[in-house]
Amino acid sequence: MLMVIVLLVMVVGSLLFHFIAPWHALPLASNWRDMDQTLTITFVITGIFFVVLNGILAYTVLRFRRGKVQGAAYQPTNHKLERWLTIVTAVFIAALLAPGLSVYADYVRPPSHAMEVEVLGNQWQWRYRFPGPDGKLGRSDARFISPSNAFGLDPDDANGNDDPLIESNELRLPQDRPIKMLLRSIDVLHDFYVPQFRARMNMVPGQISSFWFTPTKAGRYEAMCAQLCGVGHANMRGAVVVEPAPAFEAWVKAQPSRSAPAQAAAGDAASPVALGMALAKSKACVACHSVDGSASVGPSWKGLFGKTEAFADGSQAKVDQAFLIHEIKEPQARVVKGFPPVMPKSELSEAELAALVAYIESLAK
Ligand code: CUA
Repeated sequence: MLMVIVLLVMVVGSLLFHFIAPWHALPLASNWRDMDQTLTITFVITGIFFVVLNGILAYTVLRFRRGKVQGAAYQPTNHKLERWLTIVTAVFIAALLAPGLSVYADYVRPPSHAMEVEVLGNQWQWRYRFPGPDGKLGRSDARFISPSNAFGLDPDDANGNDDPLIESNELRLPQDRPIKMLLRSIDVLHDFYVPQFRARMNMVPGQISSFWFTPTKAGRYEAMCAQLCGVGHANMRGAVVVEPAPAFEAWVKAQPSRSAPAQAAAGDAASPVALGMALAKSKACVACHSVDGSASVGPSWKGLFGKTEAFADGSQAKVDQAFLIHEIKEPQARVVKGFPPVMPKSELSEAELAALVAYIESLAK
Protein backbone atom coordinates (compact mmCIF):
# COMPACT_ATOMS: atom_id res chain seq x y z
CA MET A 1 0.00 0.00 0.00
CA LEU A 2 2.87 2.34 0.88
CA MET A 3 4.37 1.75 -2.60
CA VAL A 4 1.10 2.76 -4.24
CA ILE A 5 0.99 6.01 -2.27
CA VAL A 6 4.64 6.77 -3.13
CA LEU A 7 3.91 6.26 -6.85
CA LEU A 8 0.84 8.48 -6.78
CA VAL A 9 2.64 11.22 -4.83
CA MET A 10 5.49 11.09 -7.38
CA VAL A 11 3.09 11.47 -10.32
CA VAL A 12 1.03 14.27 -8.81
CA GLY A 13 4.15 16.02 -7.46
CA SER A 14 5.88 15.93 -10.87
CA LEU A 15 2.84 17.39 -12.60
CA LEU A 16 2.50 20.13 -9.98
CA PHE A 17 6.23 20.90 -10.26
CA HIS A 18 5.95 21.26 -14.01
CA PHE A 19 3.07 23.70 -13.84
CA ILE A 20 3.97 25.65 -10.70
CA ALA A 21 7.79 25.87 -10.89
CA PRO A 22 9.04 29.35 -11.82
CA TRP A 23 11.52 28.07 -14.42
CA HIS A 24 10.10 28.60 -17.84
CA ALA A 25 11.66 29.37 -21.20
CA LEU A 26 12.62 33.01 -21.77
CA PRO A 27 10.32 34.91 -24.14
CA LEU A 28 10.96 33.98 -27.75
CA ALA A 29 12.85 36.58 -29.82
CA SER A 30 13.28 34.76 -33.11
CA ASN A 31 11.27 32.95 -35.77
CA TRP A 32 11.64 29.55 -34.07
CA ARG A 33 8.20 29.20 -32.51
CA ASP A 34 8.28 25.70 -34.03
CA MET A 35 10.99 24.69 -31.58
CA ASP A 36 8.82 25.69 -28.63
CA GLN A 37 5.92 23.76 -30.11
CA THR A 38 8.10 20.69 -30.61
CA LEU A 39 9.12 20.92 -27.00
CA THR A 40 5.48 21.16 -25.95
CA ILE A 41 4.63 18.05 -28.01
CA THR A 42 7.48 16.19 -26.29
CA PHE A 43 6.28 17.30 -22.87
CA VAL A 44 2.69 16.26 -23.59
CA ILE A 45 3.54 12.82 -24.99
CA THR A 46 6.14 11.93 -22.36
CA GLY A 47 3.82 13.39 -19.71
CA ILE A 48 0.92 11.18 -20.79
CA PHE A 49 3.12 8.09 -20.74
CA PHE A 50 4.56 9.02 -17.37
CA VAL A 51 1.10 9.27 -15.83
CA VAL A 52 -0.35 6.20 -17.58
CA LEU A 53 2.59 3.86 -16.93
CA ASN A 54 2.92 4.83 -13.28
CA GLY A 55 -0.86 4.56 -12.93
CA ILE A 56 -0.78 1.01 -14.30
CA LEU A 57 2.11 0.21 -11.99
CA ALA A 58 0.22 1.53 -8.95
CA TYR A 59 -2.93 -0.36 -9.97
CA THR A 60 -0.97 -3.59 -10.50
CA VAL A 61 0.76 -3.35 -7.15
CA LEU A 62 -2.58 -2.81 -5.46
CA ARG A 63 -4.65 -5.33 -7.41
CA PHE A 64 -2.19 -8.22 -7.43
CA ARG A 65 -0.63 -7.80 -4.02
CA ARG A 66 0.32 -10.91 -2.11
CA GLY A 67 -2.49 -12.72 -0.40
CA LYS A 68 -5.32 -11.59 -2.61
CA VAL A 69 -4.36 -13.55 -5.73
CA GLN A 70 -2.36 -16.73 -5.46
CA GLY A 71 0.17 -17.25 -8.24
CA ALA A 72 0.21 -15.81 -11.73
CA ALA A 73 -1.24 -17.11 -14.99
CA TYR A 74 1.72 -17.98 -17.20
CA GLN A 75 1.25 -16.76 -20.76
CA PRO A 76 4.46 -16.99 -22.84
CA THR A 77 3.02 -15.33 -25.96
CA ASN A 78 0.03 -13.23 -26.77
CA HIS A 79 0.24 -12.13 -30.39
CA LYS A 80 -2.79 -9.90 -30.22
CA LEU A 81 -1.42 -7.96 -27.27
CA GLU A 82 2.06 -7.70 -28.79
CA ARG A 83 0.74 -6.41 -32.10
CA TRP A 84 -1.37 -3.86 -30.33
CA LEU A 85 1.53 -2.66 -28.16
CA THR A 86 3.90 -2.46 -31.13
CA ILE A 87 1.53 -0.32 -33.16
CA VAL A 88 0.66 2.08 -30.34
CA THR A 89 4.31 2.48 -29.33
CA ALA A 90 5.39 3.07 -32.93
CA VAL A 91 2.72 5.73 -33.41
CA PHE A 92 3.73 7.63 -30.28
CA ILE A 93 7.48 7.38 -30.97
CA ALA A 94 6.89 8.73 -34.49
CA ALA A 95 4.75 11.55 -33.08
CA LEU A 96 7.59 12.32 -30.68
CA LEU A 97 10.36 12.40 -33.29
CA ALA A 98 8.77 13.53 -36.55
CA PRO A 99 8.09 17.18 -35.58
CA GLY A 100 11.69 17.57 -34.38
CA LEU A 101 13.12 16.14 -37.59
CA SER A 102 11.00 18.44 -39.69
CA VAL A 103 11.98 21.52 -37.64
CA TYR A 104 15.64 20.52 -37.78
CA ALA A 105 15.44 20.20 -41.56
CA ASP A 106 14.22 23.82 -41.70
CA TYR A 107 16.81 24.90 -39.16
CA VAL A 108 19.79 23.89 -41.30
CA ARG A 109 18.28 25.07 -44.61
CA PRO A 110 18.50 28.88 -44.59
CA PRO A 111 16.60 31.07 -47.04
CA SER A 112 18.78 32.09 -49.98
CA HIS A 113 18.86 35.77 -48.99
CA ALA A 114 20.06 35.13 -45.43
CA MET A 115 23.00 37.23 -44.29
CA GLU A 116 26.04 35.16 -43.34
CA VAL A 117 27.73 35.80 -40.01
CA GLU A 118 30.71 33.85 -38.81
CA VAL A 119 31.24 33.05 -35.15
CA LEU A 120 34.69 31.96 -34.09
CA GLY A 121 35.10 30.35 -30.69
CA ASN A 122 38.26 29.70 -28.77
CA GLN A 123 39.24 29.26 -25.15
CA TRP A 124 37.60 31.50 -23.92
CA GLN A 125 36.17 34.18 -26.09
CA TRP A 126 34.01 34.90 -29.13
CA ARG A 127 34.89 36.68 -32.33
CA TYR A 128 32.59 37.53 -35.23
CA ARG A 129 33.01 38.23 -38.93
CA PHE A 130 30.63 39.60 -41.55
CA PRO A 131 30.89 39.53 -45.32
CA GLY A 132 32.00 42.98 -46.40
CA PRO A 133 30.34 45.22 -48.99
CA ASP A 134 31.10 42.54 -51.62
CA GLY A 135 28.73 40.21 -49.79
CA LYS A 136 31.30 37.39 -49.66
CA LEU A 137 33.14 35.96 -46.68
CA GLY A 138 36.78 35.41 -47.51
CA ARG A 139 38.16 31.89 -47.19
CA SER A 140 39.76 31.01 -43.89
CA ASP A 141 41.83 28.20 -42.49
CA ALA A 142 43.32 27.43 -39.09
CA ARG A 143 46.75 27.27 -40.79
CA PHE A 144 46.72 31.03 -41.34
CA ILE A 145 45.98 31.96 -37.73
CA SER A 146 48.65 34.27 -36.29
CA PRO A 147 48.82 37.25 -33.89
CA SER A 148 47.88 39.59 -36.71
CA ASN A 149 45.35 37.21 -38.26
CA ALA A 150 43.14 35.91 -35.46
CA PHE A 151 40.48 34.69 -37.90
CA GLY A 152 42.92 32.77 -40.09
CA LEU A 153 41.90 34.63 -43.24
CA ASP A 154 43.46 33.27 -46.42
CA PRO A 155 46.01 35.94 -47.49
CA ASP A 156 45.40 35.04 -51.15
CA ASP A 157 41.65 35.53 -51.05
CA ALA A 158 40.74 39.15 -51.80
CA ASN A 159 37.13 38.48 -50.76
CA GLY A 160 38.33 38.61 -47.16
CA ASN A 161 39.82 42.08 -47.41
CA ASP A 162 36.61 43.96 -46.67
CA ASP A 163 35.15 41.51 -44.12
CA PRO A 164 34.36 43.42 -40.91
CA LEU A 165 36.22 41.69 -38.07
CA ILE A 166 34.67 41.94 -34.62
CA GLU A 167 37.29 41.25 -31.94
CA SER A 168 34.81 41.47 -29.12
CA ASN A 169 32.30 39.29 -27.32
CA GLU A 170 29.47 41.52 -28.50
CA LEU A 171 27.72 40.87 -31.80
CA ARG A 172 25.14 43.14 -33.38
CA LEU A 173 22.48 41.96 -35.80
CA PRO A 174 19.75 43.66 -37.81
CA GLN A 175 16.17 42.97 -36.78
CA ASP A 176 13.85 40.93 -39.02
CA ARG A 177 16.55 39.73 -41.37
CA PRO A 178 17.38 36.02 -41.73
CA ILE A 179 20.86 35.29 -40.45
CA LYS A 180 22.91 32.26 -41.39
CA MET A 181 25.41 31.55 -38.64
CA LEU A 182 28.65 29.84 -39.63
CA LEU A 183 30.39 28.34 -36.62
CA ARG A 184 34.09 27.68 -36.26
CA SER A 185 36.24 26.69 -33.33
CA ILE A 186 39.99 26.85 -33.25
CA ASP A 187 40.64 24.62 -30.26
CA VAL A 188 37.97 22.49 -28.57
CA LEU A 189 34.24 21.91 -28.77
CA HIS A 190 32.23 25.07 -28.05
CA ASP A 191 28.54 25.78 -28.61
CA PHE A 192 27.09 29.16 -29.51
CA TYR A 193 23.74 29.58 -27.78
CA VAL A 194 21.29 32.44 -27.35
CA PRO A 195 18.33 31.10 -25.34
CA GLN A 196 15.82 33.68 -26.60
CA PHE A 197 16.54 32.69 -30.20
CA ARG A 198 16.17 28.99 -29.32
CA ALA A 199 19.11 28.57 -31.68
CA ARG A 200 22.36 26.83 -30.88
CA MET A 201 24.85 24.46 -32.39
CA ASN A 202 28.14 22.81 -31.55
CA MET A 203 31.29 24.33 -32.98
CA VAL A 204 33.67 21.60 -34.00
CA PRO A 205 37.36 22.28 -34.67
CA GLY A 206 38.15 21.62 -38.31
CA GLN A 207 34.64 22.04 -39.68
CA ILE A 208 32.07 24.75 -40.22
CA SER A 209 28.62 24.04 -38.83
CA SER A 210 25.66 26.27 -39.56
CA PHE A 211 22.07 27.14 -38.70
CA TRP A 212 19.82 30.09 -39.35
CA PHE A 213 17.30 32.24 -37.54
CA THR A 214 15.62 35.61 -37.85
CA PRO A 215 15.84 37.89 -34.81
CA THR A 216 12.38 39.37 -34.40
CA LYS A 217 12.69 41.58 -31.33
CA ALA A 218 15.17 44.38 -30.77
CA GLY A 219 17.10 44.06 -27.55
CA ARG A 220 20.23 42.82 -25.92
CA TYR A 221 20.52 39.08 -25.38
CA GLU A 222 23.11 37.03 -23.60
CA ALA A 223 25.02 34.56 -25.72
CA MET A 224 26.75 31.73 -23.97
CA CYS A 225 28.87 28.73 -24.61
CA ALA A 226 26.84 25.56 -24.10
CA GLN A 227 29.65 23.01 -24.05
CA LEU A 228 31.97 22.54 -21.09
CA CYS A 229 35.12 23.69 -22.89
CA GLY A 230 37.63 24.01 -20.09
CA VAL A 231 38.24 25.84 -16.86
CA GLY A 232 37.25 29.24 -18.30
CA HIS A 233 33.97 27.95 -19.78
CA ALA A 234 31.81 29.95 -17.39
CA ASN A 235 33.47 33.15 -18.58
CA MET A 236 32.62 32.43 -22.18
CA ARG A 237 29.75 34.84 -22.33
CA GLY A 238 28.86 37.20 -25.07
CA ALA A 239 26.02 39.43 -26.11
CA VAL A 240 23.90 39.76 -29.21
CA VAL A 241 22.36 43.17 -29.74
CA VAL A 242 19.43 43.17 -32.16
CA GLU A 243 18.67 46.59 -33.57
CA PRO A 244 16.87 48.16 -36.55
CA ALA A 245 18.70 47.72 -39.85
CA PRO A 246 19.95 51.34 -40.24
CA ALA A 247 21.63 51.32 -36.81
CA PHE A 248 23.18 47.97 -37.59
CA GLU A 249 24.45 49.11 -41.01
CA ALA A 250 26.10 52.15 -39.44
CA TRP A 251 27.77 50.02 -36.81
CA VAL A 252 29.05 47.31 -39.13
CA LYS A 253 30.44 49.89 -41.54
CA ALA A 254 32.57 51.34 -38.75
CA GLN A 255 34.18 47.98 -37.89
CA PRO A 256 37.79 47.28 -38.84
CA SER A 257 38.69 44.90 -41.65
CA ARG A 258 41.93 43.64 -43.18
CA SER A 259 42.01 46.49 -45.68
CA ALA A 260 40.99 49.04 -43.03
CA PRO A 261 42.57 47.89 -39.76
CA ALA A 262 41.62 49.47 -36.47
CA GLN A 263 43.55 52.70 -36.10
CA ALA A 264 46.46 50.70 -34.62
CA ALA A 265 44.46 51.11 -31.40
CA ALA A 266 45.75 54.61 -32.06
CA GLY A 267 49.37 53.62 -31.54
CA ASP A 268 50.53 57.21 -31.13
CA ALA A 269 47.45 58.82 -29.70
CA ALA A 270 46.45 56.28 -27.07
CA SER A 271 48.56 55.66 -24.01
CA PRO A 272 50.17 52.23 -23.49
CA VAL A 273 47.72 51.70 -20.62
CA ALA A 274 44.73 52.24 -22.92
CA LEU A 275 46.29 49.97 -25.53
CA GLY A 276 46.94 47.34 -22.87
CA MET A 277 43.34 47.55 -21.70
CA ALA A 278 42.12 47.00 -25.26
CA LEU A 279 44.50 44.06 -25.64
CA ALA A 280 43.36 42.48 -22.39
CA LYS A 281 39.86 42.45 -23.86
CA SER A 282 40.67 41.37 -27.40
CA LYS A 283 43.08 38.62 -26.30
CA ALA A 284 40.52 37.43 -23.75
CA CYS A 285 42.88 37.88 -20.79
CA VAL A 286 39.91 39.30 -18.89
CA ALA A 287 38.08 35.99 -19.29
CA CYS A 288 40.34 34.61 -16.56
CA HIS A 289 41.91 37.64 -14.84
CA SER A 290 39.58 40.05 -13.10
CA VAL A 291 40.59 43.69 -12.72
CA ASP A 292 38.52 44.35 -9.59
CA GLY A 293 40.16 41.85 -7.23
CA SER A 294 37.43 39.22 -7.58
CA ALA A 295 38.43 35.56 -7.78
CA SER A 296 38.51 33.94 -11.20
CA VAL A 297 40.44 31.28 -13.11
CA GLY A 298 43.70 33.19 -12.74
CA PRO A 299 45.04 35.76 -10.24
CA SER A 300 43.25 39.10 -10.31
CA TRP A 301 45.30 41.93 -11.78
CA LYS A 302 44.13 44.38 -9.18
CA GLY A 303 47.01 45.02 -6.81
CA LEU A 304 49.10 42.34 -8.51
CA PHE A 305 51.96 44.56 -9.57
CA GLY A 306 54.54 44.99 -6.82
CA LYS A 307 53.25 42.18 -4.66
CA THR A 308 55.21 39.02 -3.87
CA GLU A 309 53.72 35.96 -5.52
CA ALA A 310 54.17 32.39 -4.26
CA PHE A 311 54.50 29.50 -6.70
CA ALA A 312 53.31 25.93 -6.65
CA ASP A 313 56.94 24.74 -6.38
CA GLY A 314 57.41 26.73 -3.16
CA SER A 315 59.46 29.56 -4.64
CA GLN A 316 58.52 33.24 -4.49
CA ALA A 317 59.08 36.29 -6.66
CA LYS A 318 58.18 39.95 -6.72
CA VAL A 319 55.79 40.94 -9.49
CA ASP A 320 57.58 43.45 -11.70
CA GLN A 321 57.79 44.08 -15.44
CA ALA A 322 60.31 41.31 -16.13
CA PHE A 323 58.21 38.87 -14.09
CA LEU A 324 55.02 39.65 -16.00
CA ILE A 325 56.69 39.42 -19.40
CA HIS A 326 58.17 36.07 -18.45
CA GLU A 327 54.82 34.76 -17.18
CA ILE A 328 52.96 35.84 -20.32
CA LYS A 329 55.58 34.36 -22.62
CA GLU A 330 56.02 31.12 -20.68
CA PRO A 331 52.82 30.64 -18.68
CA GLN A 332 53.56 27.02 -17.82
CA ALA A 333 57.15 27.53 -16.65
CA ARG A 334 56.09 28.56 -13.16
CA VAL A 335 52.53 28.30 -11.90
CA VAL A 336 51.22 30.61 -9.21
CA LYS A 337 50.16 28.70 -6.11
CA GLY A 338 46.44 27.98 -5.85
CA PHE A 339 45.68 28.30 -9.56
CA PRO A 340 45.33 25.61 -12.23
CA PRO A 341 48.10 25.44 -14.86
CA VAL A 342 45.79 26.35 -17.73
CA MET A 343 47.05 29.66 -19.10
CA PRO A 344 47.59 29.48 -22.85
CA LYS A 345 50.45 31.17 -24.63
CA SER A 346 49.41 34.43 -26.26
CA GLU A 347 51.10 35.60 -29.39
CA LEU A 348 52.01 39.20 -28.61
CA SER A 349 54.50 41.58 -30.14
CA GLU A 350 57.07 43.29 -27.88
CA ALA A 351 55.08 46.54 -28.05
CA GLU A 352 51.87 44.73 -27.14
CA LEU A 353 53.61 42.98 -24.24
CA ALA A 354 54.85 46.31 -22.94
CA ALA A 355 51.37 47.82 -23.23
CA LEU A 356 49.76 44.90 -21.41
CA VAL A 357 52.32 45.10 -18.63
CA ALA A 358 51.76 48.88 -18.37
CA TYR A 359 48.05 48.23 -17.99
CA ILE A 360 48.61 45.63 -15.26
CA GLU A 361 50.99 48.05 -13.54
CA SER A 362 48.30 50.74 -13.63
CA LEU A 363 46.05 48.41 -11.63
CA ALA A 364 48.57 48.18 -8.78
CA LYS A 365 46.43 50.38 -6.58
CU1 CUA B 1 33.40 27.43 -24.88
CU2 CUA B 1 32.29 26.45 -22.99
